[in-house]
Amino acid sequence: QLHGGITIVVLGASGDLAKKKTFPALFGLYRNGFFPPKTHIVGYARTKMTHEEYHKRVSQYIKVPEVFRKQLNEFLAISTYVDGQYDEDASYQNLNKHIEKIENDSHIADGHKNRLFYMALPPSVFIPVAKGLKKNVYSRGSINRVVVEKPFGMDLDSSRRLDKELGALFSEDEIYRIDHYLGKEMVKNIMTLRFANVFFGSIWNAQHIENVQITFKEPFGTEGRGGYFDEFGIIRDVIQNHLFQVLSLLAMERPISMSAEAIRDEKVKVLRCIPPIVVSDALVGQYGKSVDGTKPGYLEDDTLKNKQSVTPTFATLVAWINNERWQGVPFILKAGKALNESKVDVRIQFKNVAGQLFKEVPRNELVIRVQPNEAVYMKFNNKLPGLSFQTTISELDLSYHRRYSDLRIPDAYEALILDVLRGDHSNFVRNDELDVAWTIFTPLLHELETSKVKPIEYAYGSRGPKQLDEFVKRYGFRRHQEQ
Ligand code: BG6
Repeated sequence: QLHGGITIVVLGASGDLAKKKTFPALFGLYRNGFFPPKTHIVGYARTKMTHEEYHKRVSQYIKVPEVFRKQLNEFLAISTYVDGQYDEDASYQNLNKHIEKIENDSHIADGHKNRLFYMALPPSVFIPVAKGLKKNVYSRGSINRVVVEKPFGMDLDSSRRLDKELGALFSEDEIYRIDHYLGKEMVKNIMTLRFANVFFGSIWNAQHIENVQITFKEPFGTEGRGGYFDEFGIIRDVIQNHLFQVLSLLAMERPISMSAEAIRDEKVKVLRCIPPIVVSDALVGQYGKSVDGTKPGYLEDDTLKNKQSVTPTFATLVAWINNERWQGVPFILKAGKALNESKVDVRIQFKNVAGQLFKEVPRNELVIRVQPNEAVYMKFNNKLPGLSFQTTISELDLSYHRRYSDLRIPDAYEALILDVLRGDHSNFVRNDELDVAWTIFTPLLHELETSKVKPIEYAYGSRGPKQLDEFVKRYGFRRHQEQ
């Protein structure tokens, strides 16, 4: 727990992530009274700016309605800015002096000069910054926490190298690796659904479940991000991290407690039962122009250097878990950009009903809709009211906007930064977890890249490659009419 004060240093304060996520989340926490006493925020980046210019920028990032003006001014009053280089001791010494002055002015005693370093930075400067911080800004005798953002490497080797370099500077206990999907309300709800409901607990296995499908769909392409995206592709950008975290929460055994290490131990254990994903269990695609020609194809993106790129913007992969609970159940991971809708959900499809009575009825399906419109619903068969004995598929529907309309769903980053302030690692990725995830994905990624497997083209705004339905059918997935 934190005593004294805390200075939150946002490194990369003028970058995209800080602008879109970090500052709005920090303000959300401030506004709702979650900052510990004596919290200060220091922005750090290369751009030279005065405090006034910085405040103007931060206000633009936060975009709050006029009614919050007073709180925004209070937030700005604890926010300052320092410019500096990412690879120069002198710059970090200057940053350190700035923080020391804040601590002294607030009468924070030695031993309580806690610091949180939020690295909203591109991977190229990651290690130089971590070194500069450790050498010049680390608060000796107090608590230090370092928040890092993906990409955590490109494959197993590069991830291990990064981990080794970071591990030489900070202890695992000081490091918080963000996967923002772990901060999403419905992802956090998975453990509650599974372990606080006796009926889910008893059917959560290969005896009752036919397949599990985790889907991520975005209706826009890589517009403006082609440079970054082309190096990574959809498998590294979304599947290996976000969807895999969801999979581990769905598949793990019950942790012995709610402690961060108990939860992460279970996640690692289940991931260790997954063999590397093979190319024959993968379908990859890349978007072309929209059917009406108004939206450009991936290769036409101005920020893309390689116009012959074979980087997938869509992928469906199947993971198998070789343990008693899940043997033979395919976990279908599907993600794509420039598709027909915006949706992230989990579909757990149950087995066909046995026996002769109701042979033709659709399967039960439990759907956890992560976004938009958070919901949990169960598709089940019901007698159609009336004089016949016809069945109809209906939903037991828990839509959040109806049931919890008076409750605010916090942004994922808000939830995660609060966890960091509280020192809770449950929703952060541990280094061994990352290592297993890369072990499962690296052979596939390398094979796709070395053999230059050409992704199947699909139209911008479509459901993905035409072969998709056929592909998932191979794994026993049957499409219900979508809700
Ligand atoms: C990021 C990816 O991690 O997640 C992006 O880099 C993706 O490509 C984003 O768009 C999706 O996040 P969300 O919260 O909008 O679902």
